[in-house]
Amino acid sequence: MPTTFDLTDKVAIVTGGGRGIGRSIALALADSGAKVAVTARSKDQLDSVVQEIRAKGREALAIEADLMETGRIPVIVEETVNAFQKVDILINNAARSFMRPLMDLREDGYDKIFDVNVKAAFLLSRLAAKEMMKAGGGRIVNITTVGAVRGGAGMGIYHASKAALTMLTKCMAVEWAGLNINVNAVGPGLTRTPFSQPIWSNPEIEAAITARIPKGRLAEPEEVVGAVLFLCTENAQYITGETIYVDGGSLANT
Ligand SMILES: NC(=O)c1ccc[n+]([C@@H]2O[C@H](COP(=O)([O-])OP(=O)(O)OC[C@H]3O[C@@H](n4cnc5c(N)ncnc54)[C@H](OP(=O)(O)O)[C@@H]3O)[C@@H](O)[C@H]2O)c1
Repeated sequence: MPTTFDLTDKVAIVTGGGRGIGRSIALALADSGAKVAVTARSKDQLDSVVQEIRAKGREALAIEADLMETGRIPVIVEETVNAFQKVDILINNAARSFMRPLMDLREDGYDKIFDVNVKAAFLLSRLAAKEMMKAGGGRIVNITTVGAVRGGAGMGIYHASKAALTMLTKCMAVEWAGLNINVNAVGPGLTRTPFSQPIWSNPEIEAAITARIPKGRLAEPEEVVGAVLFLCTENAQYITGETIYVDGGSLANT
């Protein structure tokens, strides 16, 4: 059994790979030897990550796509296979949210959150899984959140979408275990990225939140990647349908 995070010759797709946690995951997968396709809407951010990966001597590809346009989702898999011949790893990391009380969230806001966080993850996973079957198996890691299992005010539909993604993780794991496709989730606590900037850029709110985190601080994006890499390696061959929370002890403290 290998004890390193070696992913040499593996091909990975990372959604939302242009910034934040997805960027850190993409760089770490490349450091571990994988060829990486990053996808998001912001082409400049994708190009920057691809340049960083190529500067390491690894192979990378930028695929501009809006996950709300379901017609673009097959293109992500097709372009990856055209470039790298297969798909071994899919990281469903892209997500949308709005900071609104439930009373104020518009219906189209609800749709955007569920379309990106759940529907796109499902459609892309199913297409990627068909390629993984040809390669003899694969790994899917869905990025959820502690909010999938803990209620809170202000982002209720985001929490609900991540709870749905957590259950989708389990159901895909059960249906695809026989295909040698392991499906797991990683649930970060509050992490310092553009996504959470409205929270951590306010010192009073950040202090109130960190007071409840046993580690006493937010996570940095790089601190989320270890769990993701582990789940992509042979070390995690018998782990499927699980969630690893990377939250500084936050859930243990509720
Ligand atoms: N930061 C936190 O505190 C925290 C905590 C728990 C869980 N998480 C989870 O961690 C993951 C990454 O979050 P992050 O903090 O790194 O967020 P981020 O910095 O805002 O990055 C989100 C990524 O998703 C992409 N994305 C959003 N909407 C998209 C769409 N319609 N189509 C394609 N790509 C889209 C964004 O790219 P474009 O805008 O260019 O499309 C971006 O690359 C998410 O699943 C989030 O729920 C974050």
